Amino acid sequence: MERMEEGDKKKQVTGYFLFSVATAVIGSLQFGYNTGVINAPEQKLRDFFNETWIERYGQEIDSNICTIVWSFAVAVFSVGGMVGSFSVGVLANKFGRRKAMLLSNILGIIGGVLMGLSTVSNSFEMVIVGRLVIGLFCGLCTGLTPMYVGELAPTSLRGAFGTLHQLGVVLGILVAQIFGLESLLGSSTLWPLLLALTAIPAVLQSIMLPFCPESPRFLLINLNQEDEARKALVRLRGSEDVSSDMQEMKEESMKMAMEKKVTIPELFRTPAYRQPIIIAIVLQLSQQLSGINAVFYYSTGMFKTAGVTKPIFATIGAGIVNTVFTIVSLFLVERAGRRTLHLIGLAGMAISALTLTISLVLVVKIPSMSYLAIVAVFGFVAMFEMGPGPIPWFIVAELFSQGPRPSAMAVSGCSNWTANFLVGLSFPKLEELCGPYVFIIFMIFLILFFIFTYFRVPETKGRTFEDIARGFAGSSSAAPAPPPDGAITLPVSPTTEKVPMVE
Ligand code: GLC
Repeated sequence: MERMEEGDKKKQVTGYFLFSVATAVIGSLQFGYNTGVINAPEQKLRDFFNETWIERYGQEIDSNICTIVWSFAVAVFSVGGMVGSFSVGVLANKFGRRKAMLLSNILGIIGGVLMGLSTVSNSFEMVIVGRLVIGLFCGLCTGLTPMYVGELAPTSLRGAFGTLHQLGVVLGILVAQIFGLESLLGSSTLWPLLLALTAIPAVLQSIMLPFCPESPRFLLINLNQEDEARKALVRLRGSEDVSSDMQEMKEESMKMAMEKKVTIPELFRTPAYRQPIIIAIVLQLSQQLSGINAVFYYSTGMFKTAGVTKPIFATIGAGIVNTVFTIVSLFLVERAGRRTLHLIGLAGMAISALTLTISLVLVVKIPSMSYLAIVAVFGFVAMFEMGPGPIPWFIVAELFSQGPRPSAMAVSGCSNWTANFLVGLSFPKLEELCGPYVFIIFMIFLILFFIFTYFRVPETKGRTFEDIARGFAGSSSAAPAPPPDGAITLPVSPTTEKVPMVE
């Protein structure tokens, strides 16, 4: 497929389009911020639990109970995320993408206020309920943002703009790490403010959303509002001639007429969807079971064990590397393609995991190995952001056409959150059991995911949604013969219809 000319690309990226994408990406920032925010003030929160306990029961909290309450406050976020992400499909179809985002902000505000008022109300329960509500909110964000951005972006730039979701996430994590410093908002008096801060972007996004368009795909394919869809596209593309986009959507609409809304059980029952949904789930699992959040949740402790003298700064360093490499990926994803970058990322992470293991084993005898440990963690994070970080979030929107997309986002998003929960919960125990060898577990997972990606994941760069979906429909009846170089490309179904192209 021919690549679009530079000039055309510019015409399609208007200020209005960028404004709309930026508004949606506030949701990604929220997810990142709330992922990173809880770690720094751990001790302050534990002290608060203790003070509340003394006030209520006249005695100090038992250290085991304190740990249970703490773990609960951490884990309940992912439980909320699982439920929230699972509800994405229903909300996105019922209210539309834009209104669903608007409504989700109510949760962001309630959650922020609950956590912010927990100390004045002397209630640690408010922290827990607040984290649950924020989890629900973030679960919705992880589905709605990539869906909205994917549906708005021109085909040739869908990957680059899809990566913006992850850029929002990593910036959110970095901001949380920095704000969480004791000298900023991580102090014993200011931590409730640190947790409540999430309400501000929620208000900001609610003010900006009414100025953004509803997704033209939703307007045309789901609501059959052709004029409205055209109007939105004209503003987004900055050109009166949106006939190619319109034609592509109409083709898809016709094909989808019988299956406007695909339910979750139908996703697994219909042969044409089974292969892409398996790919979507496995890619999401590859993101979480790579072990990335073992680093983002527990790196300070890990660096301490590795003998690093100022572990908090190594953690912030990891946050910076994380951001820089997401930007690198943003520029590469439309050149190198999703599949290649995902493979490079998985392989690089496996090598980094091995290097980290070697350094952790040797650091007892050779203290300077702690530097190698830092390099290995930075390499691990950098390689994650090349592919496994950004790609699973947006490729799901690419693998499905309009009908099944919301359900597919819900199922795969929920798989991501579940795996995130399991890694977060089990890593401390695994570390206790395996010591310096714990990252070998992730290395094995990484190798398995590399093999799966190599044999099963197609390239989606530069292809229309309909073209991608048609490839799966074609392959569900007969398995394709692999091309000689071993790379799997999508088979084209034996039909004489022309694939509409936006380029
Ligand atoms: C991805 C993951 C998230 C992780 C982050 C790290 O967005 O979904 O769990 O914390 O990357 O950058």
